[in-house]
This record gives sequence, C-alpha cells and structure tokens, in this order.
Amino acid sequence: MQWKTIDFYALDAEDKLKEFRSQFHLPRNPDGTEKVYLTGNSLGLQPIKAKQYLLEELDDWANLGVDGHTHARRPWMHYHELFTAELAYLTGAEPNEVVAMNTLTANLHLLMASFYRPTKFRYKILCEAKAFPSDYYALDSHARFHGYTDAVLEIPADKHTGILKHETILEYIDKYADEATLLLMGGVNYYTGQVFDMEEITTFARERGYTVGWDLAHAVGNIPLKLHEWGVDFAAWCSYKYLNGGPGAVAGIFVHQRHHNRLLPRFEGWWGHCKDTRFQMPHNFQPIPTAEAWQLSNPPIFSLTPLLASLPMFRQAGWEALRNKSRKLTTLLARGIEEINDTHSSGIRILTPYSNEHSGCQVSVVFEGIGRQVFDRLTEAGIVTDWRHPDVIRMAPVPLYNSFSDIQKTLETIESAVIEQQK
Ligand SMILES: Cc1ncc(COP(=O)(O)O)c(C=O)c1O
Repeated sequence: MQWKTIDFYALDAEDKLKEFRSQFHLPRNPDGTEKVYLTGNSLGLQPIKAKQYLLEELDDWANLGVDGHTHARRPWMHYHELFTAELAYLTGAEPNEVVAMNTLTANLHLLMASFYRPTKFRYKILCEAKAFPSDYYALDSHARFHGYTDAVLEIPADKHTGILKHETILEYIDKYADEATLLLMGGVNYYTGQVFDMEEITTFARERGYTVGWDLAHAVGNIPLKLHEWGVDFAAWCSYKYLNGGPGAVAGIFVHQRHHNRLLPRFEGWWGHCKDTRFQMPHNFQPIPTAEAWQLSNPPIFSLTPLLASLPMFRQAGWEALRNKSRKLTTLLARGIEEINDTHSSGIRILTPYSNEHSGCQVSVVFEGIGRQVFDRLTEAGIVTDWRHPDVIRMAPVPLYNSFSDIQKTLETIESAVIEQQK
C-alpha cells in the first residue's frame, strides 16, 4: 500500500461524507486548531444542533411547566417515540421492537429478568472472554440472584492473538448446550474491536435451545445490524459512543416481536403499561404489546435530546456510504501501522482482525514495550486515542467526522514516536 505515497487530501476532497464533520464540535488544542479525535468508540462528539434542541427543551420547561408534557413543541409524554424509527434503522429492527430507555447495564438486568430462565440442569450463561467487566458483573450477579454461583462460562480467546475464533464459539455453544441456557456476548468486543458473526452465532445457538442476547455498545452506529432478520431474542446498547448522545445518554433495547405477547416475567413500571389506561392508575399491569413494555419510567428528556441531533445523520449518510468510508479509514490506519512496523521492526501488532468484511471502525494495537511513550506522543500532538494497560492503544476513526488527513497525521506521529524510541 505504501501509506506515504497516498494523497490523503485528495481522499478528503472526494469524500462524499465530508460535510458531516462540520455538524460536530471537534475538541480543540490550546492554539485553537482541531484535535484529531479517534475515541468515538468511547464517547462520540457533540452534534452542533444538540445545544439548540436542549435550549428549546429548557425554554419549554420554563414557559410551560407541567403543561410541557402535552404542549411542548415536542411533547414530553411521548418523547421516546421520537427515536423509534431511527433506532429501528440503526439496528435492523421493526419499530415495535426497539425503545430508548435507561442505561446499558440497567437494561441488561431488566432483559435478563425476562430472558434468563435457568433450570436445575440448564442454568449456565455463555459469554466471550474479555467481555466488558460490567457485562460480566451483570451476568454473574444475575445468576447468583437465582442461586447459581458458577454459572458464567467464558468462551476462550486464542492465546496468541487474543481473538475468539468463530469455530471455537460454535464449538462451545454446541458443547454446553445441555448446561447453558443463555448466550450473551458483545457484538463487537470493546478491547480488540473484533466483530462477531452475530447472524450465524445467533442461528446456531438458537437451534440448540439457547436464548440469545447481544450487548451492542460497540456495534450500534458502527456496523449495520439486522437484529430482526437474524432472529436475535434481545439486545441492549448505550448511546454515548458511535451514536453521539453525550455522556451517560439514554440507552436502548431490542426485544424480538415473537416475545411481545408471551407471558414473561418482567420487572414492571408504569411506562410499560398500556398507554390508553396508564393514567387511570389501575392495579393490574397491562403491558404494551411491544418492546415498550420493558420501560419503567417516564422518559428523561434532557438525556434523550442530543440524540435528536445525532440519529438522523445516519440515515442521511446511508449505511453503504458510511461503511465504505469506515472500511477505507480503518484499513488505511491499520495497514499504515503495519508498514511502520515492517520498516522499523518495532514490535507493533494489530489486535483487531480488520481485514474481514465484518470489521468495524476500531483498531486496537499492541505497542510492545513502547505503548505508553507512543500514546503520550499522540496526546502531545493533539491526537486523542485510548490507552489500555499494559501496551494497547485503541483508535476508532468514525466516518461521520473523521477525515483521511486525520489518518495521515496519526501515522506520521506514530512513526516519529517509534523512531524516537529507537534512538
Ligand atoms: C461493551 C460494554 N458493555 C457495557 C458497558 C457499560 O455501560 P453503562 O455504564 O452505560 O452501563 C460499556 C461501557 O463502555 C461497554 O463498552
């Protein structure tokens, strides 16, 4: 590839999505120049329109008080419904299968209350090795709540690459089919950036009697999803990463239609009760026959509002263009780093299997022995990346707001940091 021969500015000039960058606030260096922001996998950037929408909600609250529930320009009573169509687009769901609510870990617990149905013989839960710690805590504590102390089984990663082989995942699903009842994995692993074949894994596990749930924190807004078609039982995600909803933004859930009218155990709240009779305040809970039945409380307006600015951008850009640009950015970054390693034999290894069609934005890189120094040099140069002890740097070029010149600057900085360390 020879990254030094590539005209990154020409790539920017012909980039069909370049206008979207101006719809975000880019963090700035002390001299006023824009930083290179490669941590959209951790916290997405603020859409410019978010502030205006938030101010409008504050105005409506100031001017209308309680009447804002029904008479705000976007009435608060049904506010969460404003996000349904876009969330369905992003997750490949039917509109009645998704709802924006709560936060990710809280949602995982609520969904497990319905979908983790252990029996004496089949009570184990399969998840991936190196699952995000919060997921592990949620799974383990939920199993303990049911009285099982040894329920969580981790599907091991390859010792050398840290990546889970697809065959190993299927092998474990098959092997534990008599003991495990739930498979719950991250659709994209937070650490390695590995994207799992959710379609095949879901089908394979469901054929063996598992209930299948996905944590889509690192998947939603990063890769296209088809949750309905894949037959996924349930899923949950957060909105502050690729969805640019802001710190602690409201999360979302998916519940497949086939579960909507089942008699499932559920932790209930008044916002899950049928809308027609909710305000008659009856004792008997009558669930809304959609994913909304899992809601507990009335929607947190200020935490939802920034998503009004962000979510429509995905449909405007379109998945095809987003994926095209994302693949180009990520491949240029990963290949460029590999070339730097080849030229300087500097113990750099790309963890993320970035070249297969399932890969997403993120590239996780091991910088053996020099990780901290490279990270510090990137930070000094105004390049925002994510450090993971002991020697991993995670970088995620995001097609909505990263440019090809961002990649060039990052590669130049990494190369000069590597050369510096070899002096
Ligand atoms: C994969 C994954 N799961 C769960 C969480 C926890 O999210 P929250 O704090 O919103 O519950 C995170 C947070 O980054 C995550 O990346």
